Amino acid sequence: MRQRTLGRQGLVTSAVGYGSMGISMAYGPGDDAEGAAAIRRAHELGVTHFDTAELYGWGENEKIVGKTVAPFRDEITTKFGFTRDYGTDSRPGHIREVLDNSLRNLGVDHVDVLYQHRVDPDVPIEDVAGTIKELIEAGKVKYFGLSEAGPQTIRRAHAVQPVSVLQTEYSLFEGDVEKLFGVLRELGIGFVAYSPLGRGFLTGTAKPAGQYEATDMRNADPRWQPGNFEKNLDAVAQLTELAASKDATVAQLALAWILAQGEDIVPIPGTRSAERVEENTGAADLTLTSADLEAIAQILPTGGFGARYVDHALPTWI
Ligand SMILES: NC(=O)c1ccc[n+]([C@@H]2O[C@H](COP(=O)([O-])OP(=O)(O)OC[C@H]3O[C@@H](n4cnc5c(N)ncnc54)[C@H](OP(=O)(O)O)[C@@H]3O)[C@@H](O)[C@H]2O)c1
Repeated sequence: MRQRTLGRQGLVTSAVGYGSMGISMAYGPGDDAEGAAAIRRAHELGVTHFDTAELYGWGENEKIVGKTVAPFRDEITTKFGFTRDYGTDSRPGHIREVLDNSLRNLGVDHVDVLYQHRVDPDVPIEDVAGTIKELIEAGKVKYFGLSEAGPQTIRRAHAVQPVSVLQTEYSLFEGDVEKLFGVLRELGIGFVAYSPLGRGFLTGTAKPAGQYEATDMRNADPRWQPGNFEKNLDAVAQLTELAASKDATVAQLALAWILAQGEDIVPIPGTRSAERVEENTGAADLTLTSADLEAIAQILPTGGFGARYVDHALPTWI
């Protein structure tokens, strides 16, 4: 597996990472053993970057990731900052408490990246960055990450404690964050693309809203609603044809497209299936020509149809 450097503080990871959220939430009930098998397969295939968060099952996902990754101790990234009612809490005392819980859940003495999951409008980002700086000095955290942060927050945070990575949604369906790539590159901050498969739509397995398990967020996701769904399906059919002409799957094409956007970008596709891990990591070996990239741009000139979240959950970049 090829390696990529994220930020200027020394973080080097596999070009394709692994996102563990789906084992515990968002896409219907998961199976811990199956999820653990997927993580182990990712490790065998050279993945060294495993992403979790306090939010994903309030410690449950961290326990699965920690236990499974323990024998090989690859990079673990986790996140703080949500409250149980999906508000934000980045007060310094809360950050320290959540990190201590995360270390206990993961069974480790440090995490590689500690992300602020969402910017907290009530806590100056300088206070957050200062707290992370102390945690880095204490050896509990190696690198500082932000998620869904806007340019001013990124600059202010970076001035206190260098930020190594921004994690935000990015895929063939979602390109808004490209607006921030200039700031990231100016400051030397790497980028981690979350939901890089458009929550599974860019894999050719999408079903209409209402046909997923009751707890699956895609039943309400705007991209799955009538009107948008058919247009997205049509785009994925065209992408699938292009992928097939390169002996690849559409999921591999979607991930290879992200990798082609810069050496400082790492996608973290999520799957609970070891077989799909194999498919997704295969994207690291798929090279897209400029003609391929042009054909993709013709198919989806402005991304997917429909917003990436329902209104109340849509992150605002502050
Ligand atoms: N920072 C944030 O706020 C934030 C928000 C969302 C996500 N994330 C992170 O990003 C990671 C990835 O995002 P995500 O899980 O939302 O979305 P994703 O990676 O775009 O898609 C995941 C969905 O695609 C399916 N899938 C994956 N590979 C497949 C393949 N090869 N063929 C068919 N289906 C496939 C998975 O189903 P199966 O499991 O059934 O294979 C799952 O339903 C998360 O796990 C999490 O770590 C971060």
